[in-house]
Amino acid sequence: LTSDVERAARLIAKRGHVAVLTGAGISADSGIPTFRGKDGLWRRFRAEELATPEAFRRNPRLVWEWYRWRMEIIARAQPNEGHYALVELEKLGLVDCLITQNVDGLHQRAGSKNVIELHGNIWRARCTKCSYTIVWDEPPPLESLPPRCPRCNNLLRPDVVWFGEPIPEDAWNNALKCAMSARVMLVIGTSGVVYPAALLPYIARERGAVVIEINVERSALTDDVTDIFLRGRASEVLPQLVRHVKNMLSAN
Ligand code: NAD
Ligand code: APR
Repeated sequence: LTSDVERAARLIAKRGHVAVLTGAGISADSGIPTFRGKDGLWRRFRAEELATPEAFRRNPRLVWEWYRWRMEIIARAQPNEGHYALVELEKLGLVDCLITQNVDGLHQRAGSKNVIELHGNIWRARCTKCSYTIVWDEPPPLESLPPRCPRCNNLLRPDVVWFGEPIPEDAWNNALKCAMSARVMLVIGTSGVVYPAALLPYIARERGAVVIEINVERSALTDDVTDIFLRGRASEVLPQLVRHVKNMLSAN
């Protein structure tokens, strides 16, 4: 009886053209709390208070203090074995794109090349009025919050997508194109409750892709669209999966 991991590895090795979709779960083992898990970030804060345009208008300093706190957690985090396994898979020429809902930049730090950031990046800030953007490599000083644009002196905002905001056009178009031509959709560590990211596995599957999901628990996608569900931590399951893929490729 071949295990589910072997079955998944065989499909990846045979089909190639893998579109990867990741959520907060892949960074959980790097010490970054997920949003909706038991230790979820939103548990401690009400999302309305923080990740919405209204909240920012009402209290930009509070929103910036929350993002600065997340930047501190992310600055201390390192990519984990799950991130590195995806770099291996990409080096084998099997990954068409890596679509992430995460804003932590860990995929790029691990060495992934073709990363599509659906929700932006926490290290980037942009002016609320002019086209000024800046990329920080460490959290801005507390006393500088809320930061202002050095060009026009208006407020800077985190360059991430908030509830109620659409995904950046080019990111969404690239993700859609990749999902529509994928032969495998590898969905890792997402609860599948936030749209339009959660649409991508459905779009891939209706065009003939096989959907493989890795999660510590069943998500909103599992019973609907997942063909092979691999229960476990991404930092453990992904390295196993990639090892099997390598064995199958060298056996051929
Ligand atoms: P929402 O209800 O505000 O918007 C998503 C809905 O709008 C979906 O029903 C979807 O059908 C539609 N939609 C939006 N853009 C679309 C597009 N380009 N193509 C097709 N349909 C589109 O959803 P939400 O849950 O309130 O959040 C909106 C976005 O903000 C989501 O992407 C969410 O992940 C993101 N977000 C980011 C953070 C963060 O900290 N990075 C925090 C919260 C939410
Ligand atoms: N390995 C695999 N999966 C895990 C792990 C792990 N070690 N730890 C947690 N998970 C799973 C949880 O079971 C859950 O299904 O990861 C998922 C995390 O779900 P969420 O916290 O909802 O994160 P995500 O799906 O990325 O949220 C989507 O919503 O708040 C917005 O923009 C924000 O990008 C985020 C979006």
